[in-house]
Amino acid sequence: MTLHIDYAHYDQFKKYQKDKKIFIETGTNQGNSSYTALQSGFEKVISVEIEESLYNLCLEKFKDYDNVILFHGDSKDALPKMLEMVDESAFFWIDAHYDHYDGEAHIELDIIKEHHINTHTIMVDDLPSMVDQCDALIEKIKEINQDYIIEYLDSNNNKNYKLIAYVE
Ligand SMILES: C[S@@+](CC[C@H](N)C(=O)[O-])C[C@H]1O[C@@H](n2cnc3c(N)ncnc32)[C@H](O)[C@@H]1O
Repeated sequence: MTLHIDYAHYDQFKKYQKDKKIFIETGTNQGNSSYTALQSGFEKVISVEIEESLYNLCLEKFKDYDNVILFHGDSKDALPKMLEMVDESAFFWIDAHYDHYDGEAHIELDIIKEHHINTHTIMVDDLPSMVDQCDALIEKIKEINQDYIIEYLDSNNNKNYKLIAYVE
């Protein structure tokens, strides 16, 4: 059972990690971004996956990692519990969705807005799947903190595929 570094994400995780130690992911899938985050320098990963088979697969893959905490369930239910474990500014990798985008990132941003820290770095993947909902996404990020700097990032050959929001 192997874990792979995803080089499309590695450099961007490293570049925008800054002083963050905790990587919080929605949509664990095969665990490759969780692993990539550890390799790029994060000290702890907290991730949630809705599909039980993928959750169990990742439990097995990370069984020797006491710095990886995995949740099973819908991100909208798990994220409040995950945030209870966080008492410092962290890095979010927002990536829970199926082929058809169903508003998951928007819901997750509403939950992050309720956290007592409003300086988390937030990276959102797969923007093309959200088509015309990116402006609303940016509005939600600004509701968390007006001072967010927001940039679009490319992924491999795909332009403006991700979004990064950070506070300096
Ligand atoms: C694009 S994949 C994630 C890829 C992974 N983050 C990576 O970078 O390697 C999306 C994952 O989100 C999961 N997912 C879909 N809806 C979800 C939800 N509401 N809560 C948690 N996970 C969800 C899917 O089962 C799938 O494994």
